Amino acid sequence: MTLRLAGASTALLAGVLTLGVVLSLPVLGEGSPSSPAPSSNAAGAAPAGASDADILLAGKRVWSDAACYNCHGNNGQGGHSADFPAGPSLRKSVLDPESMLMITECGIPDTRMPAWLKGAYTELECYGNPIGPAPSGILVSGAYSEDQLKDLVAYVQVAFMKQPMPTWSDR
Ligand code: HEC
Repeated sequence: MTLRLAGASTALLAGVLTLGVVLSLPVLGEGSPSSPAPSSNAAGAAPAGASDADILLAGKRVWSDAACYNCHGNNGQGGHSADFPAGPSLRKSVLDPESMLMITECGIPDTRMPAWLKGAYTELECYGNPIGPAPSGILVSGAYSEDQLKDLVAYVQVAFMKQPMPTWSDR
């Protein structure tokens, strides 16, 4: 599993970097039926019932597509770039998967950590705020489905934090 994941991810990362992250993503429903080929710019969610390896690969695609590494470092070790805000080390994070998912979906107010969930604040509740315009102080990227962000958090937890695969309450 490790070798397969590493090899596929390298090819994938190259593809994502080449294609860039500006192309629009398709709207992804619950467990989209087929994962896009690695050459696609779109980082699809792993289908329902996917293997752990496939979930981690899908999560790595989102990590690359969203360019989390710009601020958090290529290996989640924390950012040091002069060009991007310095995000903290995710390797040293103590967040459990549910909390990390919420932060990744809804962002951190008054910081450079964006909200990544499609429809965050405007269509889906974040931090108990009423549905409506995002409060000031929140940067909203809003590019990914919850399923994609679950895959992403699984990837961060397992690849960087070396935690067991999360078991989501509704999954
Ligand atoms: C533009 C820079 C930037 C990008 C891109 C970014 N982050 Fe962040 N992130 C931050 C900053 C800055 C913080 C710390 C905010 C604070 O609390 O001061 C942070 C905090 C976090 C935290 C909280 C860590 C902890 O233990 O408290 C998580 C989790 C996180 N980011 C995940 C991600 C993921 C996953 C992505 C990609 C989808 C991402 N971030 C993309 C800037 C960024």
